[in-house]
Amino acid sequence: MYQYLQNQDFPKALSGAAAAVEHLLDAELPHPAGAHARLLNAMRYSALGAGKRLRAFLVLTGARLSGAEEQNALFAAAATEMIHCYSLIHDDLPAMDDDTLRRGRPSCHVAFDEATAILAGDALLTLAFELAADPRTHPDPGVRCELARAMAVAAGGNGMVGGQMIDLASERRSVDLDHIRTLESMKTGALIAFSCEAGAILAGRDREFRQALRDFGTDVGLAFQVYDDILDVTGDEATLGKTVGKDESTGKATFITLLGLDGARQEAQALVRQATSHLERFGEQAQPLRAFAEYVLTRKK
Ligand code: IPE
Ligand code: IPE
Ligand code: MG
Ligand code: MG
Ligand code: MG
Repeated sequence: MYQYLQNQDFPKALSGAAAAVEHLLDAELPHPAGAHARLLNAMRYSALGAGKRLRAFLVLTGARLSGAEEQNALFAAAATEMIHCYSLIHDDLPAMDDDTLRRGRPSCHVAFDEATAILAGDALLTLAFELAADPRTHPDPGVRCELARAMAVAAGGNGMVGGQMIDLASERRSVDLDHIRTLESMKTGALIAFSCEAGAILAGRDREFRQALRDFGTDVGLAFQVYDDILDVTGDEATLGKTVGKDESTGKATFITLLGLDGARQEAQALVRQATSHLERFGEQAQPLRAFAEYVLTRKK
């Protein structure tokens, strides 16, 4: 069970989890055919072949910790990555961040066109819920429904999409730290918190168990976005696979705007410490989640 996660070496465990979810994504994404083949090609272009698969790793790690079935967890992981990939397609659109480079390749709207990119995002989001509702995700429809609901809350208007709205509305405005904390927690933290909790939902764990994983995800998810902002300043474009320096040139409100690079680093470190404190009850079994938290602050992409 979860053989790839048994590797003590974090990069190896991550690449093993990524390969497993990639395989499932490839199988579940429709094969391009018919008059709408262009749409299906765009979905595959943006969902396959690249991406760190961090959210999938978190779903699988949380699921293993919770005692969920691996096959079920893989479906939840694939659904979560579909939502994430859709969010990246839309995030890059000219009406949003207007980014032409994603995962080292032309963004979806550049490789295809804007309308196709919008539709590919729509279809990936929808397919994620199709997978969540699929009996292969869990034999009990009640559990599938709870999973889909938690996923919807994380991705929706008071979660990721709401955060994206605040992100755009805050460009070139002076805002305070609480505002940035809300913005980044919603646009990125919410889906990462869901990723951490998903396995506990599948395994039917109690409220406290679920909450501990969620709290870890909330803090590590915010730290992840703070570090994404740092990489936008300090990162290398070829390694990152996306254009650097965009946040400053578009006037994005980030922790760096208010705290500077060192202040943002300290904020991310404090969040990671807080995140790992929620794992105490899980003991040694939570080691891969601790490794993930450490990785968030040392990654190069
Ligand atoms: C990028 O996420 C978008 C953010 C929420 C910061 P990732 O850095 O996880 O992107 P991929 O999936 O590895 O490309
Ligand atoms: C994106 O945040 C958050 C999403 C929900 C997609 P960013 O706009 O900072 O992500 P990148 O830097 O383009 O990957
Ligand atoms: Mg953005
Ligand atoms: Mg962006
Ligand atoms: Mg960014």
